[in-house]
Amino acid sequence: MKSPDITRSKMIPEHVPKHLLAAIDWYGMTELGSDPFVELAKLHDGEPIIFVGSNVRNSHGSWLITREADIRTIVMDTDHFTSENISGFDQVIEGFNNKLIPTEIDPPDHAAYRTFMAPYFSPSRINGLDQIMRDRVRDIIAQVGLKGKCEFMSEATYYMAIAPWCEIMGMRYDEADQWIRFPVQILQYTSDRPKLMAEMIESAKSLYLERKDTNMAGLIAHFINTPSGGQIPSEASAIGFIIFMLIAGVDTVGGTLGFAMKRLAEDQKLRAHLTKGKDDVSIFVEEVLRRHAVVSTNRYVKKDVSIAGVQMRCGDNIILPMSLANSDPKAFERPLELDLARKRGRIMTFGAGIHTCIGSRLARAVIGIAVEEWLAAIPNFRIDSEKPLIARVGDVIALTSLPLQYEPI
Ligand code: HEM
Repeated sequence: MKSPDITRSKMIPEHVPKHLLAAIDWYGMTELGSDPFVELAKLHDGEPIIFVGSNVRNSHGSWLITREADIRTIVMDTDHFTSENISGFDQVIEGFNNKLIPTEIDPPDHAAYRTFMAPYFSPSRINGLDQIMRDRVRDIIAQVGLKGKCEFMSEATYYMAIAPWCEIMGMRYDEADQWIRFPVQILQYTSDRPKLMAEMIESAKSLYLERKDTNMAGLIAHFINTPSGGQIPSEASAIGFIIFMLIAGVDTVGGTLGFAMKRLAEDQKLRAHLTKGKDDVSIFVEEVLRRHAVVSTNRYVKKDVSIAGVQMRCGDNIILPMSLANSDPKAFERPLELDLARKRGRIMTFGAGIHTCIGSRLARAVIGIAVEEWLAAIPNFRIDSEKPLIARVGDVIALTSLPLQYEPI
């Protein structure tokens, strides 16, 4: 299918009504403090859809969708909206035209990729990883526990997140640092982002060459060497697949776990409650996932369409923050409260429709194990900082640092 005509001009498109122009930079909002979800939720008091000008994602601006119902409608509607080019790699790296598989693939081709990947994320596969996740988490807790304090984001959360990822992908855990570096730094939108992206593409090429025509274990090697529709994937497809595997699943899990730990550090009663029962931990994880939905995805319009009365034209970019879906008072009562007694609703944290996150079961499992094991080893801890904490806002919302203090174990 032909890509939509995405005009790369800095001009605000003429069809954007003046009253919908907003002076915000979705990708640069580090000034929103440690709980940007509260600040962002204020967008629910205004227009349901606003237009943010030139941004790192799209130089001619993007529609920002704030209401749960509209976000859901858009991700479910693959007739009017395409996922092609949503990674934005083509805008940063000249000549980059690999599609990131499966996230940038529209129907009908998308379905075969999902079917291929599904066994790696099945309930039995994730249950089978329980012990290895627990062992890795315990090792990390033992290391940082000794010191009586740690910076949870750089010393713990991403290592906990990457352990099962390595198992599934067929990557070595002792090389975790380099695989953590790419998603975490690229999603921070620092000035060396283009250099990092170029390095990541090179690493993806090396991984491809290392695994091509081998019987190495893991999803990445399996993808590279398995014929689909009678043909082995091209080098371009394989690299697009590897790049997305390097991005998804580490920063997202690590970012969410960071917010879970911050809530626990701040709330002694909650810690005491959760130390009692495994079931309560899984309810807590679910509510953290709702209240701290870290991912914003995006789409391009491929056929002119009107959403909530706003006319969108082919080629327009649309930002879909899952945090705004979950903080919409029309979707959840008292959405900003972390309420373990809340009736379970349809959270948008993992998206909806054909691109719904394939790693959601894994994410829930590893975050739950990390919380359980941490509370068992370190039931009391607090935030060790005089200065307010900071979170970055963008494709993935995450604390930039979380210093914790506790009795050494
Ligand atoms: C808390 C953790 C996570 C969150 C919040 C999250 C969120 C999301 C969201 C919102 C989407 C949909 C994007 C869209 O519609 O454009 C998505 C897709 C995806 N996620 Fe996750 N994710 C998480 C963890 C993971 C993990 C652990 C993995 C794998 C190791 C993973 C792999 C994927 C893949 C492959 C897709 C693309 C699915 C497709 O296009 O069919 N994610 N994720």
